Amino acid sequence: MNLPEHVTLIEVGPRDGLQNEKNEIPTDVKIQFIKELKKAGFKEMELTSFVSPKWVPQLKDALDIIQYCTDEHRNLVLTPNEKGVMRAKEAKCRDVAFFVGVSESFNLKNINSTTKESMDKLLPLIRELKEDGFFVRACISTAFYCPYEGKIHPDAVLDICQQFADAGVDDLSVADTIGMANPLEVYELFSRLKAQFPDMLLTAHFHDTRGMALANIYAALQAGVDRFDTSAGGLGGCPFAPGATGNAATEDVLHMLKALNIETGIDMNQLLKAVEVIEPHLAGAIQSKQHQLNKQEKAVN
Ligand code: HMG
Ligand code: MG
Repeated sequence: MNLPEHVTLIEVGPRDGLQNEKNEIPTDVKIQFIKELKKAGFKEMELTSFVSPKWVPQLKDALDIIQYCTDEHRNLVLTPNEKGVMRAKEAKCRDVAFFVGVSESFNLKNINSTTKESMDKLLPLIRELKEDGFFVRACISTAFYCPYEGKIHPDAVLDICQQFADAGVDDLSVADTIGMANPLEVYELFSRLKAQFPDMLLTAHFHDTRGMALANIYAALQAGVDRFDTSAGGLGGCPFAPGATGNAATEDVLHMLKALNIETGIDMNQLLKAVEVIEPHLAGAIQSKQHQLNKQEKAVN
């Protein structure tokens, strides 16, 4: 088995996890959730997004989140455009993530631009941020399937990643937005990405709509990927990708990685405490296996 000794888990629960949540979560609860997650040992986290509050009302408190939650670690904020970058700079963020859909139809629904229009606007912003010493991540959505266009050709994904790489991004986070990919497709795409970008941070981002996220993570590990976006409690989904459910649950991924003797530096008990902080505020119950087992164990003792 080709497995790494260490994997970095990038916690995206506070951003991807909450952006699609029906209940309005109080800002102080979000802050407590993030603080408990940080205690579990995450060194990279997507905290929130500087997007239009009309499009994603749940994240309208982004500035407060940044003010109370940034520390010496990598605290990523998503930005869709120049205004988002301006807000991120005003908030003194140093770690910025852009997002674009390989699929034109998805990109139009998500950020109201064609993929080319987005790239034409984002690439100069990325170059500027890199000159100013920012950490820049590029999130590539619909890298396998699009809810509107169906199967996406891997060549199109590699082409967009190359444009981001040429602009100087530090990290490519390549996403199965609607959880339709299978391990064969994952192995093929990530093997090609690893070969084309051997010196780049390469992250895999799986939604678990069809229960394939763990299998896909295992396939990505085999392809040499050692960074994964995961979401505490398995929360998540994009409001503009119909049918997409939550991300791979961090605690279930952690359980698998531990069983494979892969180090992450994350404390399971503390992670489960963070999940307990957010659960009472959600519209639905958390379904992750580790959280369910933890609850059962507590009920017995
Ligand atoms: P638009 O309506 O075309 O924007 O939306 P606009 O430029 O015409 O501006 C409209 C209004 O929004 C104006 O305000 C702007 O000032 C304001 P008004 O004059 O009406 O009062 N505005 C902003 N406000 C705050 N922050 C900003 C900003 N920009 C404009 N940055 C826009 C275009 C991009 C703004 C909108 O489509 C948007 O915010 N989209 C965000 C969608 C989103 O957050 N999606 C989820 C994240 S991506 C994801 O989840 C996928 C990922 O997880 C990977 C995967 O799983 O695939 C990363
Ligand atoms: Mg996502």
